[in-house]
Amino acid sequence: MTDIQNTHVAVLVGSLRAGSVNRKIAEILRDEAPAGVTLDIVDGLDQIPFYNEDIDGADAPATAVALRDRVASADRVLAVTPEYNGTMPAVLNNAIDWLSRPYGAGAIVGKPFGVLGATPTPYGGKWAHGDTARSAGIAGAVVVEDVTVSQSAIDVDPTTDAEVRAKLFAALARLAEFTPTVTAA
Ligand SMILES: Cc1cc2nc3c(=O)[nH]c(=O)nc-3n(C[C@H](O)[C@H](O)[C@H](O)COP(=O)(O)O)c2cc1C
Repeated sequence: MTDIQNTHVAVLVGSLRAGSVNRKIAEILRDEAPAGVTLDIVDGLDQIPFYNEDIDGADAPATAVALRDRVASADRVLAVTPEYNGTMPAVLNNAIDWLSRPYGAGAIVGKPFGVLGATPTPYGGKWAHGDTARSAGIAGAVVVEDVTVSQSAIDVDPTTDAEVRAKLFAALARLAEFTPTVTAA
């Protein structure tokens, strides 16, 4: 394993609930991140209008511009999300849509990307996590292999269980250590 480099990770949380387990996971990762790794939880995703090409461009909503700026200034992106009806929550999908434009030059383009989270089902949100990774990849992010934890929260509290916490921090470390391969043009 290589040393963790100094790196800044923008975090998108898919749940808006005040008591969200996924938000708590994001906060734990932020508060106990390894030295050199800083996490910025991007709040206010619910204040961003649904993506609409008619309102994008020079006059894009300030909330969407703020999202783009926060992600553009990060080195990497981590989504921490539950699953809603077999896929990612709409608020996360909307954020990725805004980050995907302008086409080919969106704030998420080229950023190493990982996704993890927990749900109180046996599957732990794996469809949501698969869909989020696919969507982010199509939007231009570099989806990092093995930075996915789909944790069932039926038998364990993912915020306190030592084994689960170790898995979550290992995923964060893999994202932080990832170095994109530069290919010659
Ligand atoms: C509208 C809705 C749809 C849901 N659909 C799923 C689902 O398809 N799969 C799943 O594992 N959990 C599903 N759940 C349960 C969520 O995973 C659960 O509420 C989770 O704890 C939310 O995460 P949070 O604590 O971070 O808010 C759903 C919850 C809601 C509100």
